[in-house]
Amino acid sequence: MSKRLDDRATRHDRFHQKAKKQGFLARAVFKLEEIDQQFKIFKPGQRVLDLGCAPGSWLQYARSRVLDKGMLVGLDRGPLRGDVAGARIVVGDVMTIDVKELLGELPGFDVVLSDMAPDTSGIRSLDQARSEALFERALEIATLTLAPGGNFVGKLFQGPDFKKLTEAVRAKFEVGKTAKPASSRQISIEQYVIGRGFRK
Ligand SMILES: C[S@@+](CC[C@H](N)C(=O)[O-])C[C@H]1O[C@@H](n2cnc3c(N)ncnc32)[C@H](O)[C@@H]1O
Repeated sequence: MSKRLDDRATRHDRFHQKAKKQGFLARAVFKLEEIDQQFKIFKPGQRVLDLGCAPGSWLQYARSRVLDKGMLVGLDRGPLRGDVAGARIVVGDVMTIDVKELLGELPGFDVVLSDMAPDTSGIRSLDQARSEALFERALEIATLTLAPGGNFVGKLFQGPDFKKLTEAVRAKFEVGKTAKPASSRQISIEQYVIGRGFRK
């Protein structure tokens, strides 16, 4: 498919249309919804950290699940447009951010999410390596900030270290699984790794 046709297909795909109709900021929301329905990630009142949160549809979804008493913190390299779901937004790079800045006054999080994706180069091995580095850092932040029993969801491109990284999640959580939601494009090599029940 040519780049132009591909872009048009992206704009007009059914998940994009559905997100627009329902007032979500990105079609990515349906990936998290499906993961939540399958793995029961959220409960009302939880504290959630969303790494790579822009434009903000995962924060919107998380708010609908943790409700008013829940606390949301989002990190991204660029500022978000306006207030998203009452979240506290930290602008910065995940590789250099101090976890104390993410925690603020909170003692820890109940859920850590990462939908971070690298700027793709078109060179598969390079994109995989960058995705693995972002995933590893997200898992490190989860390990430093999650309360016992907490949950983790992280995007990871399938690559040479996929097995090693999913094993690292299994070692830290009671349950470790992978998922490829229906709304994740089939041509994309992204997968999600889910950890339930953090073992502190
Ligand atoms: C696919 S988007 C996330 C979409 C989001 N889950 C939503 O529902 O709106 C990936 C995000 O990861 C962010 N990102 C990539 N590398 C990052 C880094 N090193 N530090 C912080 N954010 C990063 C990008 O800026 C981008 O906004």
